[in-house]
Amino acid sequence: MNTGQQLAISDRLPRGSVNLSADEKSVIIVDQTELPNRFVEIALSTESEMVEAIYQLRVRGAPAIGIMAAYSLFILAGNIKTADISLFLSQLAKHAAALNASRPTAVNLSFALSKMMNAANKCENVGAALHALKETCYAIHAEDITMCRAIAGHGLTLLKAGDGVITHCNAGPLATSQYGTALGPILLAKEQGIEIKVFADETRPLLQGARLTCCELQRSGVDVTLICDSMAASVMRQGKISACMVGCDRVAANGDTANKIGTYSLAITAKYFGIPFYVLGPTSTIDMNCKTGDEIVIEERPATEIWQKWYSEPMAPAETQCFNPAFDITDHFLISAIVTERGILHPPFKESIAGLNL
Ligand code: MRU
Repeated sequence: MNTGQQLAISDRLPRGSVNLSADEKSVIIVDQTELPNRFVEIALSTESEMVEAIYQLRVRGAPAIGIMAAYSLFILAGNIKTADISLFLSQLAKHAAALNASRPTAVNLSFALSKMMNAANKCENVGAALHALKETCYAIHAEDITMCRAIAGHGLTLLKAGDGVITHCNAGPLATSQYGTALGPILLAKEQGIEIKVFADETRPLLQGARLTCCELQRSGVDVTLICDSMAASVMRQGKISACMVGCDRVAANGDTANKIGTYSLAITAKYFGIPFYVLGPTSTIDMNCKTGDEIVIEERPATEIWQKWYSEPMAPAETQCFNPAFDITDHFLISAIVTERGILHPPFKESIAGLNL
């Protein structure tokens, strides 16, 4: 049941969670750790604030952290006090490295930062570099909006009115811009008057499904039901699910996909029930440097996120040993299709991905 407070907050959510401030001196983010109880926007203007915001998941979701890192690098570039282009570029590279180290799994972070550094590296003076950085960060954001809309359109061809879709974590507008990736087809369906029923995994331990996906879908009037991660099999057995739609943080050249921890077990369960499992994301999430999922670095996060962070009292004895990988790898053979802005990729993914010529 929605509380008035939650509805009021979801109504205020913008379509996207990252923007440059009007004076272009800070990056403004919706602090996603405050949702669904408070709508808080924060302005970040120093490297340490930016790194902290990414690490603490104030800004999160693979494309959103890429956009945020690009804006951040532009702001930090503006604070570099030298007219010497070599010195400027070496200080810029240090900022880029610090931002890049804040989270390891989502390739969008390094992809956006590399695009920014490439743009600056081509310039012969600091003024030109600042101009190129500004153009590039706005372009990265604009491209994401276009890509998400295209993904939504392609993904919608996989659904029909009355379908039940299960999703994991949050791959909506907060994690990207505008439509999101996995939530894109559902939001687009709603706009077109096509009713889809969504089951949102709560997504332990950080509850992105409960806190963010439910908030976003309620805001758009989508029929969403929250379940605990452990309930997915039972809901599938009851015949309520026609498709799984999830986002991705990095896709290897063979289609193995890193996404929020719990995605893998959802895919195995879907396979058992013969339910199609769709991964949705921009082609910038495909990392041709990773041949298989085994090469993807999985971020490990603090134990306290499992037993303490969201609870008023500890939920396990103090000093309990924990293992908290933030992502897992879903094997390519569990994935029915990968939906990108350039169309729907079908197995065998090694061939269909190679055909993109990335
Ligand atoms: O740790 P998070 O919340 O950043 O993890 C996010 C996910 O796993 C999303 O599914 C993924 O980034 C896709 S967002 C469009």
